[in-house]
Order: sequence, then C-alpha cells, then structure tokens
Amino acid sequence: MRNTLKVFEEISLELLKEEEVNPVAEYISSEDLLDEIDIKLETKGISDEDLKKSLKNLVLKSPKTATKAFFNQLFGGRNDKAVLGDLLAVMLNNSMYTYKAAGPQIGVEKVIIRKICDIIGWDESSNGTIAPGGSMTNFMALLMARDAHDNSVRYSGVSNKMTIYTSIESHYSIAKNAAFFGIGRDQVRYIETDDKGVLSVPHLLQAVEEDVKNGFRPIMINCTAGTTVLGAFDPILPLKRYVINTRCGFMLMAPIVVQFYGVRNINTL
Ligand SMILES: Cc1ncc(COP(=O)(O)O)c(C=O)c1O
Repeated sequence: MRNTLKVFEEISLELLKEEEVNPVAEYISSEDLLDEIDIKLETKGISDEDLKKSLKNLVLKSPKTATKAFFNQLFGGRNDKAVLGDLLAVMLNNSMYTYKAAGPQIGVEKVIIRKICDIIGWDESSNGTIAPGGSMTNFMALLMARDAHDNSVRYSGVSNKMTIYTSIESHYSIAKNAAFFGIGRDQVRYIETDDKGVLSVPHLLQAVEEDVKNGFRPIMINCTAGTTVLGAFDPILPLKRYVINTRCGFMLMAPIVVQFYGVRNINTL
C-alpha cells in the first residue's frame, strides 16, 4: 500500500504541474479513444511500471475540471479539505449502511446534514442523506412527494395517474426518473419559461388545473435553482402558497447554490 500511495502522489503532483502549464486537456474524440489510450483489459497482467505509464496518460488526457479554463456551472476548482476527506474515505472504505461498518462516519454524515438543514432554514424535524448526485436526489424527492401524496402506493404500486410539473429548461433526469418511478415520462408536464429561462407561474397553474379537471393527480412541482443551460432560477415564493393549498410536493433542484431567499419554503432540495 505504501508504494501505491507513492504512485498516487507522483501522478497527482504531475497533474498539478500539468494543470498550470496546460489547463485544457488535449481533445480526444470518442471514436479514437480506445486507440489513443491504453485501457484494454487483457488476460495477461502488465508490469507496475507499465501500469503507472498508462495511468499517467489516462489522468493527463482527462478533462481538467479543476482549472480556471474549464467552464461549467458545476465545477469550481478544488477545495483542499474536501479532497483530503474524499481521499481518506477511499482509504477507509466504509459503507454507510450500518453503524457496524461505518462507526464515526455516521456521525460525520449527520453533522453535515444538520448544518445544511440549518443553512437552508429548516427546523429540527428536517433530515436528509448524502446521495451520489443530482439525478438520485431528484429521484428521492419524487418518491417522497409520492408517499406524501398517497402513502399506500409504496405497498400497492402506482395505479392512479400521477403528474409532475417542471420547466422546459429543467434537467433530463426529471423525465428519466418519472420512467424509473413508474408514473411514466408522459406524465411529466413541461411548463413554458420566459426569455431568461424562468418557469411561468400562470402556465403552471393552468396545467395543474387542467390535469385535476381530467382526473390526474398532481404530486410534485419541481423548481430549478440554476438550470443547466441558462442558469435560470425558478420563482419559489410565488408558488409557496399554492403548493401548501394543493398539498403538492415542492422540490428544488439546486446545482448552483443552496442559500438564497426562499429556499426554506420548499419540501426537498
Ligand atoms: C439542474 C440539474 N439537475 C440534475 C442534474 C444531474 O446531476 P447528476 O449528474 O449529479 O446526477 C444536473 C447536472 O448537470 C443539473 O444541472
């Protein structure tokens, strides 16, 4: 293991140096990938030296998401302490499913979640979990909205026509999750936006009304704080009263920020 850590340090230091000199990785088209980079899985093993060479090549040719030349709303350089935490988590290799396997790591998760809830402005009864990404958190929000609407569905399955509402600019994972969840992609109602990509409240209310008239059951409204292309923020406060009146779940996808006016009014983040 000590040798492995030395290899890790050597490759990481080379990456840091390379990021300063060449902040943008050389582009490799997906058609040429397997010819340009040796990532084949052979039956015969390779030497440690060859493995190191292949790993360096792989690392140096991967997109350099931590440099200032990588423009994307979801990346913003490296945070030293966060990297350290991630590295130690890999070394520890706990699993969070039981206290037996995770021990004090459970405490770390609880403290972080409490802090996030406090920042949002949610009270002591709020809770959460650390999920592997936006698609999964959005899926969990859908499940919670479903159960809040009708708790029997988790035993008997989906048998009524549930609908969810999101803007046309929202992330594709909303539709994907509707398919996973069993209500179906066609039950996602895409609401118009203005020229800045912000969800239109009148159009939303009209769509919900129409669905209720036709026997559908609206279970969730999704707002996005930072849409993928335009970075738009949907109107949380104007929808709050409406959501309380209809008992429709109110969820926020927030890839950019968590602390801004109105966030405490939503049910899941
Ligand atoms: C608004 C929004 N929702 C969901 C996601 C999905 O996140 P992940 O790729 O972590 O599952 C993204 C990622 O770009 C996003 O911008």
